Amino acid sequence: MENVKWIVVKNPEEGAKEVFNLISEELQHNRLHVLGLATGSTMIPIYNEWTNSSLDFSNITAFNLDEYVGIDADNPNSYAYFMNQHLFSKKPFKETYIPNGMAEDLDKECKEYEDQLNSHPLDIQLLGVGENGHIAFNEPGTSFDSVTHVATLTDSTLGVNSQYFENDDKIPNIALTMGISSIIKSKKLIMVAFGEKKRAAMEKLKAGEVTAEWPITKLLHHEDVIVITDLQLD
Ligand code: GLP
Repeated sequence: MENVKWIVVKNPEEGAKEVFNLISEELQHNRLHVLGLATGSTMIPIYNEWTNSSLDFSNITAFNLDEYVGIDADNPNSYAYFMNQHLFSKKPFKETYIPNGMAEDLDKECKEYEDQLNSHPLDIQLLGVGENGHIAFNEPGTSFDSVTHVATLTDSTLGVNSQYFENDDKIPNIALTMGISSIIKSKKLIMVAFGEKKRAAMEKLKAGEVTAEWPITKLLHHEDVIVITDLQLD
């Protein structure tokens, strides 16, 4: 697929350096104003690289992909907490947006989030991938036309993500997530996948067939995608 540029690295640290170089180049050329961010273990070396650098995000508006419902920003299991811990407490941004999983009216929150995204078009969206091919919390079968919405998580995702849950908290089975269409609207996508557990999803992407059963494959319809992985794929 010509629209997808594959960068194969030796390990996550080298992958983080590649992301760093891409982001710094966009900043230098004044092409980055609105940055979509992600959570998950994949992002930790990436954010470490940024926080240990002189990158300046003080003019950048950031949007996160998703958040669990019913967990507040002070709870270490929330994505808001993760972002503060790994990035925002160490690097000032102009503004940061994360869906509010504590909102009383979740549908209203989703609509307002999508409105904010529409008024701040994404220049770059950073993405990880779930083992089942989900992007953000867009699980297999989610419509490619989806915008920010309330999502029900699959057993696969609950199983994988519950390993990271602290304090005996039960993982919520619902979350707020940017939709596939909201993500795909970003001018540029940087997708990162490390480790054997991501092989099935990466093989689907490499195979080149776009199917809702593997949400990640929708990236093939985007014209500017960079994939950074430590997986060797044929
Ligand atoms: C969660 C997030 C996804 C992320 C995925 C992978 O499900 N909602 O946005 O891509 O985790 O996480 P990890 O990087 O820990 O493998």
